[in-house]
Amino acid sequence: MIQIAIDGTAASGKGTLGKSIAMRLELDYLDTGKLYRAVGHAILLAGKSADDMSVQDSAELASSLSLPILQEDELHSAEVAMQASKVAAIPEVRDALLQKQRDFANNPPSGKGAVLDGRDIGTIILPDAPIKFFVDAKPEVRATRRHMEMQARGKDLLYAEVLADLINRDNRDKNRTIAPLTAANDAFLIDSSALSAQEVLQIALDHISSLSVFNM
Ligand code: DC
Repeated sequence: MIQIAIDGTAASGKGTLGKSIAMRLELDYLDTGKLYRAVGHAILLAGKSADDMSVQDSAELASSLSLPILQEDELHSAEVAMQASKVAAIPEVRDALLQKQRDFANNPPSGKGAVLDGRDIGTIILPDAPIKFFVDAKPEVRATRRHMEMQARGKDLLYAEVLADLINRDNRDKNRTIAPLTAANDAFLIDSSALSAQEVLQIALDHISSLSVFNM
């Protein structure tokens, strides 16, 4: 059972890479950010904010999630992302989601293997994954990509707002005490600032074949 761990900053291209690798290698893909976003979304739906939820209530929301999380447009909003980043700093929430992620990686629907992307996949969720990537890009490049993505979804946000949101979220994700966003020591680093999605995929596939742990 092959496991591929991808971590990185917001809008670095890690999700696009994860999906593309999974498609090319016929593996199952899990966007773990969706789990945290689903908790953030549920909090907003209840008319609350992560700041005024008790730890226990947030952890209960996380426990009650079951995979797959359906793709809902609202999960992509900047507001949901910020709530997700806040609840992601709560140890009890992370604990409630940890086993769900490992279960998916150990029993992927196809039975062949799984690609997971997030912030702590290579460090905490799948520390023994034989293939790990860490994707990053300059904040301005990431904000431009996210801004265009939002516009395509009909959301009219200012570029400056998107940039500030990303930086704010990265800071929270990197500086929290539990499972902070960081590259695993054995992760292969990709700076996608000047690369197309296709180029990032090619670099990743070349790296995978160089490791000879997966029959491509
Ligand atoms: O990948 P994303 O932007 O959809 O993630 C939303 C938030 O969820 C992110 O700001 C931090 C949190 N997250 C996390 O802490 N650990 C993960 N494995 C995935 C996401």
